[in-house]
Amino acid sequence: MAASTVKLALLLLAHNVIGQVHDYSQYVNPLMGGSGPFDGLACKCSPSHGTIDHCTYLRNLVGGGDIFVGGALPFGVAKVGIDTYEQNVSYSTLNGGWTPEGAVTAISMMHESGTGGFPKYGIIAQMPLTTIDPPVNILDNRTYWQNRTGDDTAKVGYFKTELENGITVEISGARHSGIIQYSFPDGTKHILVDVSHYLPSETGGYSNQVFLGGEISINGSTYTGFGTYGGGWNEGAPYTVYFCGEFDTEPNQARTFRGRNTDPMTRYHTFSNEPIGQATFGSDGSNRETSGPLNDRIGAVFTWDSAATSQVRSRVGVSFISAEKACKFKDDEVKSWKLEDTVDAAVEEWNRDVLSRIQVPTDDTVNSTNLVLLYSSLYFMHLMPSDRTGENPLWDSGEPSWDDFYTLWDTFRCTVSLHHLIQPEAYESQIRSLIDIWRYEGYMPDGRSGNWNGLVQGGSNADNVLADAYIKGLRGAINWTDGYLAMKKNAEVTPYNTYSLDDETASVKEGRGALDDWINLGYVSLDNSRCISRTVEYSLNDYALSVVAAGEAPEDVQKYLNRSAGWQRSWNHDVTSRNFSGFLTPRFSDGSWNATDYNPGLCGGCEWTSISYEGTPWEYSFTVPHDMQTLIQFMGGEAEFERRLDYIFQPNTSEQDLSANGAGITTIMNIGNEPDFATPYLYNYLNKQYKSVNQSRALANQYFHDALYGVPGNSDAGALNSWLIWQMLGLYPIVTQPVYLLESPWFSDINITINGNQTLRVTSSGDHATLGQQGYYVQSVKINGQVWDKNWFNHEDVMVNGGTIEFTVGKEPTTWESGDVPPSPGHFEL
Ligand SMILES: *[C@@H]1O[C@H](CO)[C@@H](O)[C@H](O)[C@H]1NC(C)=O
Ligand SMILES: *[C@@H]1O[C@H](CO)[C@@H](O)[C@H](O)[C@H]1NC(C)=O
Ligand SMILES: *[C@@H]1O[C@H](CO)[C@@H](O)[C@H](O)[C@H]1NC(C)=O
Ligand SMILES: *[C@@H]1O[C@H](CO)[C@@H](O)[C@H](O)[C@H]1NC(C)=O
Ligand SMILES: *[C@@H]1O[C@H](CO)[C@@H](O)[C@H](O)[C@H]1NC(C)=O
Ligand SMILES: *[C@@H]1O[C@H](CO)[C@@H](O)[C@H](O)[C@H]1NC(C)=O
Ligand SMILES: *[C@@H]1O[C@H](CO)[C@@H](O)[C@H](O)[C@H]1NC(C)=O
Ligand SMILES: *[C@@H]1O[C@H](CO)[C@@H](O)[C@H](O)[C@H]1NC(C)=O
Ligand SMILES: *[C@@H]1O[C@H](CO)[C@@H](O)[C@H](O)[C@H]1NC(C)=O
Ligand SMILES: *[C@@H]1O[C@H](CO)[C@@H](O)[C@H](O)[C@H]1NC(C)=O
Ligand SMILES: *[C@@H]1O[C@H](CO)[C@@H](O)[C@H](O)[C@H]1NC(C)=O
Ligand SMILES: *[C@@H]1O[C@H](CO)[C@@H](O)[C@H](O)[C@H]1NC(C)=O
Repeated sequence: MAASTVKLALLLLAHNVIGQVHDYSQYVNPLMGGSGPFDGLACKCSPSHGTIDHCTYLRNLVGGGDIFVGGALPFGVAKVGIDTYEQNVSYSTLNGGWTPEGAVTAISMMHESGTGGFPKYGIIAQMPLTTIDPPVNILDNRTYWQNRTGDDTAKVGYFKTELENGITVEISGARHSGIIQYSFPDGTKHILVDVSHYLPSETGGYSNQVFLGGEISINGSTYTGFGTYGGGWNEGAPYTVYFCGEFDTEPNQARTFRGRNTDPMTRYHTFSNEPIGQATFGSDGSNRETSGPLNDRIGAVFTWDSAATSQVRSRVGVSFISAEKACKFKDDEVKSWKLEDTVDAAVEEWNRDVLSRIQVPTDDTVNSTNLVLLYSSLYFMHLMPSDRTGENPLWDSGEPSWDDFYTLWDTFRCTVSLHHLIQPEAYESQIRSLIDIWRYEGYMPDGRSGNWNGLVQGGSNADNVLADAYIKGLRGAINWTDGYLAMKKNAEVTPYNTYSLDDETASVKEGRGALDDWINLGYVSLDNSRCISRTVEYSLNDYALSVVAAGEAPEDVQKYLNRSAGWQRSWNHDVTSRNFSGFLTPRFSDGSWNATDYNPGLCGGCEWTSISYEGTPWEYSFTVPHDMQTLIQFMGGEAEFERRLDYIFQPNTSEQDLSANGAGITTIMNIGNEPDFATPYLYNYLNKQYKSVNQSRALANQYFHDALYGVPGNSDAGALNSWLIWQMLGLYPIVTQPVYLLESPWFSDINITINGNQTLRVTSSGDHATLGQQGYYVQSVKINGQVWDKNWFNHEDVMVNGGTIEFTVGKEPTTWESGDVPPSPGHFEL
């Protein structure tokens, strides 16, 4: 009691200090989404399921969050955190570096967050050791990796872990740099700098990362150099990262080393069928090592005598341009050796630039779990993409440079639409960068990481991003003439085939691999993989073109609007499933259907070569946001549409094993994966908003928690987190349209800082301290003081100059809306 009174008093004090921002970072749980459904394991493996074989199978069944945990700034280049390896290989999802149980292999400077598939990054590493004597072999992480004792501590800007060898590691991150503090037990202290370290794939294979050489030089307590890496899920070309590291205490000994590269690598020089050898040390004073033409592994070991110090601190900077820049980042961004200084700066920046953009009451009247869900979600949706402005090694155009759009397929619905509102500067900058990538590399990315486009899972979804920004009026310094040309490239030019092992039939690097079908047939046929999901995605992509064409090339509007109706050509009115008629159906290029024995509840694995990607045709049949009018009609009218929606929320309706993307969900509705994000809200199109509120809340409550297993599956660069934020705000954006659906907020009062410095205030009459105590069903809405009879509004109503949305809620579900249903601006009947 006393303690909380004091805290409250301090808070009140803080509020009274002008310009001081409330510390929202205290509500962030940086571990939310760190594991799959079974405690302690990044992926699902229930002990009751017994055998390893079964575990291996289950590894693919339920994805963990794969989140990054460590020190980072909003949109930062550096994400400083531990890399781990789960000894039980079958359990691991290493993509963010951190796993709940894995042994620590290093602390490294760059990570992705929430991505699935093969890992990318986990590079520019240090590893503290108490011995490097045999059996330790510094070329073999299995001989020195460390289990952790106790629980890790993770806060905004701060991470701490204790290793079994007695070393405590504390970490904080700045924009292109970080600081690591090692507290050693008595005895000799070593820090291994392994330039060849990267996050491996647990299963090996085609998309594993590779180390392709580098260089390291030592000068006293400083080291500099670079490493070149390639591969990873996006099948990226090699890229080079320069580094500059420094220790606060001069080492007693510092030696470079070199050893043969035995990693399995296709198409690169390696010694991969040999056992891991021993490192050769350069003699003290030689100070420099290069990999040479055989991609040898290189690194350095810094050693402190037992008497020297008990604590070693290290600052490390990274740059894509030069070691000098990396040193400058280190010096400018981590000015002091006090870890807390970097932590405080990070907390301040997260509060100022991210967390305070959405303010809700934080007093006793609020359910504290909901505070954690809101602010943690905000945190996770700002870890990516990475702002690499000034750090583009490929060209120098004066435009901003961003990377780690990983991927737009995941983020185009909920993440970018929120960035637009609360991060207008960063968002404009991102769009300029997307267009600049087209200028210099021919296509905007769908995914991009390590300065390389890839992979494209469905359509060219940068089109949706640009259209969403355009229709909502974003102009700034964006060259929309070029923006439209970049979109047109996606719509008109088939990218060359990259013959990826994921899918050898067409490019998965960029653009639209199945464009030939799309242009010639008006749908994607069975000649191409993913014909169902690509057909619906290309439809929305072309709608996106029509949106930007309206301002930039009016003569093209009708053409792309026509093309946006292509999904109707893949709609077979006669196919039935579970007593429903009309589904997206695979079609041959001659126009005939492959409907015999067709079950739209199955997709053949929902993989790259399946008929639909990471979702079944049942699910994709709901994803036509630009023409809901025709969709409802095709599904048999409003009553049938409603019945079909009701059905997909019933347990045990899913027939398809969606592997990692299913998150153990048994309903056809799968909130763990992005194609279904809007589906629970589609009741708004029937003016039955209360059902949207009910279904979407139920999903949020069932699958999102303040827990390690806090999101249903991979968080996908924050995509799942941003879905939850919209849910909590009581709004849902219909991307490519200036339209937001009204739902029901989770807080009584929300101030959102939009468009730079305008405020949108959302209030709700409900008592939100206890979930649902007074109900959350909307009874009436006022926008800017006017009674509102529609369950949606336009961007300009409140999102440009700010405004108010007032919800009155209650326990009874009510059809409160009588106005027009949300629009179908792409309505077009073939
Ligand atoms: C892997 O997990 C299985 C099942 O829990 C267990 O029996 C086995 O000992 C573990 N192996 C290792 C190397 O940890
Ligand atoms: C680390 O812990 C795992 C169990 O989680 C155990 O199998 C392994 O032997 C431990 N490794 C070391 C080096 O102690
Ligand atoms: C660690 O060693 C294992 C086994 O050799 C290897 O697969 C992995 O790539 C190594 N590196 C890391 C960072 O785990
Ligand atoms: C090594 O560092 C010292 C002190 O920072 C500096 O004066 C010197 O130029 C450096 N030597 C090299 C070869 O970079
Ligand atoms: C929202 O802003 C209004 C007007 O400034 C203020 O009265 C209210 O307390 C704010 N609410 C929150 C939760 O910050
Ligand atoms: C847009 O870029 C093109 C060249 O790519 C240039 O010709 C044009 O002037 C630019 N438009 C604006 C408004 O800057
Ligand atoms: C669009 O489709 C309509 C009707 O199918 C057709 O008459 C018209 O020529 C098409 N327009 C363009 C630009 O393709
Ligand atoms: C099938 O749907 C019709 C309405 O289209 C309904 O009347 C009938 O009861 C349904 N049958 C079953 C078995 O659900
Ligand atoms: C046609 O559909 C059947 C049944 O769904 C399936 O087994 C077959 O592989 C399909 N044919 C092609 C060419 O996709
Ligand atoms: C779903 O299926 C499982 C396994 O067959 C069964 O245990 C469970 O009771 C079913 N749930 C419902 C709601 O039908
Ligand atoms: C905030 O508004 C003021 C006055 O309208 C304007 O001058 C200023 O540039 C705005 N700041 C931002 C960050 O948009
Ligand atoms: C707070 O919210 C969580 C989930 O949102 C819920 O499980 C919990 O019951 C709520 N607590 C109270 C006291 O209502």
